[in-house]
Amino acid sequence: MKEISIYIHIPFCRQKCDYCNFFSVEKSAQIEEVYFKNLSNEISSYESLLKDRLIKTIYFGGGTPSIVDGVYINNILSQLRTIGNIDSAAEITIECNPEDVVESKLENFKSVGINRISIGLQTTNTNAAELIGRRFDKKQWNKNKHIIKKHFDNISIDIMLGLPSQSMKEVKQTIKEAISAGVGHISCYDLTLKEKTPLFERYITDLSLKFEFPTQKQVVNQREAFGKVMETYGMFRYEVSNYAKPGLESRHNLNYWLCGDFLGLGAGAYSKVDDMEWENETTLPHYNSKEKSKLTKEEKRINKTMMGLRTSSGIDISLVEKNEAEILIKSGHLALKDGKIKATTKGFNVLDEIILRLV
Ligand SMILES: C[S@@+](CC[C@H](N)C(=O)[O-])C[C@H]1O[C@@H](n2cnc3c(N)ncnc32)[C@H](O)[C@@H]1O
Ligand code: SF4
Repeated sequence: MKEISIYIHIPFCRQKCDYCNFFSVEKSAQIEEVYFKNLSNEISSYESLLKDRLIKTIYFGGGTPSIVDGVYINNILSQLRTIGNIDSAAEITIECNPEDVVESKLENFKSVGINRISIGLQTTNTNAAELIGRRFDKKQWNKNKHIIKKHFDNISIDIMLGLPSQSMKEVKQTIKEAISAGVGHISCYDLTLKEKTPLFERYITDLSLKFEFPTQKQVVNQREAFGKVMETYGMFRYEVSNYAKPGLESRHNLNYWLCGDFLGLGAGAYSKVDDMEWENETTLPHYNSKEKSKLTKEEKRINKTMMGLRTSSGIDISLVEKNEAEILIKSGHLALKDGKIKATTKGFNVLDEIILRLV
């Protein structure tokens, strides 16, 4: 049976963070109820596809999936179990904000079959959190963080680098706290200033905030130091932004990077199944899926190159123009082994430019 991954978008948050441009709105019980009805109809509409597929991974992302009533999460999983075939060893992840790390919620996630949790910690530096407009209750986090490992063996944490006022000492402190919470996987993103977000507006108008931001060079140094600290904890960079202990890599995300099939459910979600791709409208509570399009051979090559170069396994050199690859090998941005090219640490620092040159 062919395999598939499923992503479910939960577009609700307590409050928008000033830096975030992911599709989400502030939580409202009425919108939520209608949204989950639509989601259930959408799942039913894929009955014939799912009947013939083995579901290998499921990922509840957002927004903040951990703030909605657990019954909704349970209903989605029950419906998928009824109409589809969930692999008995499927990886089922939920994104959870630090304030939702409470016993009752974690118990519920575990009881409905969720076996991996991804906590959006970002930073334990309250000053940095405040400067980027992110709510963070350090006291509550310190009190509750130890309960995560009581319920989950597979724990991931998101950390952000390049935050205003963030020093490497504080990043190390955040990592240390993540490790003590039992983490085996860390996603680490450089803060991107997204246009039209409140943080972007503040950044271009408030000179004092501008001075708080590390320079590009400092962020590169933070990232290199970050990688070294990760290795001391036995976690390795298996993708440009992701580090894991061997065996705890995110199977869901690996499926994206290896260009496997995935079905995205919910507003704004994107799907790729066989050679077709499509996305859903970003409207709430009702949304429709937009027109499907067939991927051309060239688009598939570009996708494989773009996605594969993000990973530490790299791609077959035959996917790209050989001369250009050789220049990047000579300059130390790519390494060649057994007919495969992969980004070196130097290459990962400028991955977007490398990908542009190769595709
Ligand atoms: C879509 S968010 C959802 C997770 C969860 N709601 C949270 O806030 O922790 C997934 C991750 O994207 C990252 N992220 C969001 N906005 C970002 C930005 N502007 N720059 C870099 N990373 C960002 C954060 O690390 C976040 O944990
Ligand atoms: S960062 Fe997370 S909690 Fe904040 S607005 Fe974005 S999705 Fe919501």
